[in-house]
Amino acid sequence: MSAGASKAAALDLADPLGGKRELFQLPAGVIYLDGNSLGPPPKAAFAELEQAARQEWGEGLIRSWNAAGWFTLTDTLGDRVGCLIGADAGETVVTDTTSINVFKALHAALALRPGRNVIQAERDSFPTDLYIAEGVAASRPGTELRLAAGSADLPALIDDRTAVVLINHVDYRTGALRDMAQLTDHVQRAGALVVWDLCHSAGVVPIELDALGVDFAIGCTYKYLNGGPGAPAFIFANRGHHEGLVQPLSGWWAHAAPFAMESGYRPAAGIRRLLCGTQPILSLRALKAALDVLDDIDIAAIRAKSLALTSFFMELVEPICRDFGARIITPRDDGRGSQVAIAHEQAYPVVQALIERGIIGDFRAPDIMRFGFAPLYLSFRDVADAVDALRDVLASGAWRDPKFAARALVT
Ligand SMILES: Cc1ncc(COP(=O)(O)O)c(C=O)c1O
Repeated sequence: MSAGASKAAALDLADPLGGKRELFQLPAGVIYLDGNSLGPPPKAAFAELEQAARQEWGEGLIRSWNAAGWFTLTDTLGDRVGCLIGADAGETVVTDTTSINVFKALHAALALRPGRNVIQAERDSFPTDLYIAEGVAASRPGTELRLAAGSADLPALIDDRTAVVLINHVDYRTGALRDMAQLTDHVQRAGALVVWDLCHSAGVVPIELDALGVDFAIGCTYKYLNGGPGAPAFIFANRGHHEGLVQPLSGWWAHAAPFAMESGYRPAAGIRRLLCGTQPILSLRALKAALDVLDDIDIAAIRAKSLALTSFFMELVEPICRDFGARIITPRDDGRGSQVAIAHEQAYPVVQALIERGIIGDFRAPDIMRFGFAPLYLSFRDVADAVDALRDVLASGAWRDPKFAARALVT
């Protein structure tokens, strides 16, 4: 047994979350290092979907909007996501996509700071955040999008024209974790509002939105929350902002009395103002099953294992990187999320060669291999085996096979 494998065996023996893997459907022979992109299905999601489709849709038909609680799933699931991100009940709804929620949050923040007209973000944000911010700026005459080179440069750019600062909690490429307390404080002291994108931290990093007085947060539920492909996203608004909350997608689900069928819009009270229209109930039900899995697990235990898995991976992979011209670009200290990113000239074919061996990670342009370490279904043995496979792919040159160079639509 290699040194890595024997250390892994000891770590697995002491892992309090080891038993949770049984709750997930994972194919035999696969080591899944892409839960930072799409989490695997919790086994209970299949029964939940069956119940929602066959019984509630098939038998209950339209009655299920009331009888099965479909109409309020946005709120009931929102509160459960809220528990995972340090939000009080009534401050979070599950709805729409992250992109749409960025749109709503930026508009809402701009409306709350009428004398200011700058949206600020960092250039390396996940692209959809910036594309949406551009769209918001374009739709409000006089509004400007100001980009900082990196998160460290964000504070210096804030001035008395800055209305809102949009920040990715974890950098989707490098995995660097931003200091939410410090940045929120800085933004707010300058009189601006903050919107945090929690896509890469919800469910895997402890988050205290209310304790830190965060204004808005948005995020997806298909990564570490395992809600399924295209699962609805969430949006949080601090209760202190509810009264003045305005957003332009004023659909009927955000109306004070949706079934009064009034001709004019009257906003709902509270967080429901951030809804828009009818939601995908089957997807919400898969998410419900996924949230059930997290019910009795302490996020602190998840975080402890996440840091242990990523640090074990970095320890084993470092000498390989040195030998094969690769470079770990993820912070070694605790300032990281739950992924490790490695830069290598041939990152794309290397990742494809690993996938063929059942080690599933992903590639992000221009040259990054990303490996996500979701603590609920990965073991330290998985980490050691993945590193062995990476060493072999690089040492054998297996990645040179031309079939690995063909770029797929989704990388
Ligand atoms: C930080 C971040 N924001 C937003 C998104 C995607 O948004 P949407 O779910 O609207 O496609 C992603 C997807 O990976 C992401 O990583």
